[in-house]
Amino acid sequence: MITHCRWLFKTYFNFKYRMKPDPYQINTSRYEQTKIAKSIEKIRGQKFQNVLEIGCGAGYHTEFLLPFSDRMLCIDNSGEALKRAREKISDERVTFKQLDLVTDNLDEKFDLIFCSEVLYYLDLEQLHAASARIIDWLNTGGTLILVHALIEGKYIERSILKRPGARTIHGLFMESDQLCTIYDTIEKFYRITVLKRR
Ligand SMILES: C[S@@+](CC[C@H](N)C(=O)[O-])C[C@H]1O[C@@H](n2cnc3c(N)ncnc32)[C@H](O)[C@@H]1O
Repeated sequence: MITHCRWLFKTYFNFKYRMKPDPYQINTSRYEQTKIAKSIEKIRGQKFQNVLEIGCGAGYHTEFLLPFSDRMLCIDNSGEALKRAREKISDERVTFKQLDLVTDNLDEKFDLIFCSEVLYYLDLEQLHAASARIIDWLNTGGTLILVHALIEGKYIERSILKRPGARTIHGLFMESDQLCTIYDTIEKFYRITVLKRR
């Protein structure tokens, strides 16, 4: 099944990041800048010892997250994205690592996990497994910030892939009895949810 072809996703994102340094215009789009500002609003003034950014892409959100972090691990499946990110961020607090959320695991825990516009590339089966893994990566009392577009059932980036959107993805985490929701907002095009590990 196409959703299980991990190489296809890697190739797709490698191509995107090879063609453009910022394929999602995170640095220039007012929409993206507003979204990231709203996403970190609830952690303003806080400092986290160990931070994980999932699907860091070219590192644009990494810059925003750094002031909240003593140490950051930024993971992405695309080597090209990580190459861009490494060129952009040179800070001894930050480590970049190539990792596929669907197939790979991590053996450490985090106080803050940030996951923006990543989980709709997974099918429902993969999403269930990945959500369990992400929850497991959170320390007790740790914070999870999820940011995803409301693209329920739509085709992703004009491809043949139909994806779950923020209602399904965030709903899945909110149903977990290991997490409590401390903030949840549904904007016109996206949803931001902040949860804490019990
Ligand atoms: C749409 S971009 C989002 C980038 C950034 N987080 C943002 O909010 O703009 C999706 C990113 O997630 C990464 N990604 C997609 N599926 C992944 C997976 N299974 N494991 C790790 N990274 C993945 C892609 O390589 C890409 O960099």
